[in-house]
Amino acid sequence: MSQSSKYNAAITAIGMYVPETILDNKYFEKIVETSDEWIRTRTGISERRKLDNGATSDLAVKASQDLINTYKINPEEIDVIIVATVTPDMFFPATACIVQNKIGASNAWGFDLSAACSGFLFALHSGAALIESGSFKKVLVIGADKMSSIVDYTDRNTCILFGDAAAAVLLEPTEDKSLGLVDSILRVDGTGESSLYMRGGGSLYPATHETVDKRWHYIYQDGKAVFKVAVKGMADVSYEIMQKHNLKSEDIAYLVPHQANLRIIDATAERMGLSKDKVMINIDKYGNTTAATIPLCLVEYHRDGKIKKGDKLVLAAFGAGFTWGASLLVWSLDH
Ligand code: COA
Repeated sequence: MSQSSKYNAAITAIGMYVPETILDNKYFEKIVETSDEWIRTRTGISERRKLDNGATSDLAVKASQDLINTYKINPEEIDVIIVATVTPDMFFPATACIVQNKIGASNAWGFDLSAACSGFLFALHSGAALIESGSFKKVLVIGADKMSSIVDYTDRNTCILFGDAAAAVLLEPTEDKSLGLVDSILRVDGTGESSLYMRGGGSLYPATHETVDKRWHYIYQDGKAVFKVAVKGMADVSYEIMQKHNLKSEDIAYLVPHQANLRIIDATAERMGLSKDKVMINIDKYGNTTAATIPLCLVEYHRDGKIKKGDKLVLAAFGAGFTWGASLLVWSLDH
């Protein structure tokens, strides 16, 4: 990423977890006025997962344990844990601390990163910078959200969209500058605050009977407004990173988009000149899992043998804040 650094940060291990309980579109037909057909055609979602017992840290721990067990990582060697989430177990301590304890990463420090649906991209870039600094050798970057804890299941505008999941990647230094995170273009625009938020529970509106009665502890989204800026924001920044690195569509193995809406994903792919087979999609199975969508795609596509070492991937996201961005990542895992 940084020209001056001796190292690039490369992904050397991956893991994921999705809870067992499936909420299909038929389930939502029973609880709000909607239809399977509307949900599939307007969003691309057929199913999403729900964690019945436990918190975001439990999702994050299971994804981390999958990574640790699959790649035989000694948790005591992990230096840093970054948890991207908007559904921390509590305001404090950070979910990263809870994960640290539960996985036995006895020598790590860490923190949570709040950037909504762009959380994984921001965390990946931050983790890579820590690796490039030369100070840290193993950074665990986790995208984890228990969206069911903040979804209003009486609001058909939002409840059909979200699901629970976690996925994790381990970053380590490599002197091979052709691998790993090459670059990111990351943005925030706080004027987006009024379009997508959870109003209650923070220092502005601490929990009261009134905030509960007004349903302020749930997600509010002006879907139409977000849709418009998301389509443009995600497509623009993905195109910009291609231009910056002189990449043609044939140079890119996959677009790895945040999974919020299939129509936003299609618009981004179209702008980049990518055919559908070069776009990672699993929104049909999991819906929008916020910080988990991008690493979840990476893990599934890797395990299905669809990506190989050296593949150039463009990761792209858009979310509340607004936050958005694109990263150029060269895949570094062998099969
Ligand atoms: N079932 C049936 N009808 C629904 C519905 C549902 N689950 N949700 C909304 N509708 C209705 C609306 O009430 C509206 O009805 P009206 O015209 O009578 O008011 C109609 O469908 C159209 O609503 P609209 O908001 O224009 O739908 P849309 O095509 O924009 O799709 C979203 C809604 C939420 C799927 C879409 O706006 C979206 O994906 N937004 C962006 C999400 C996103 O990217 N978030 C960013 C990061 S999380």
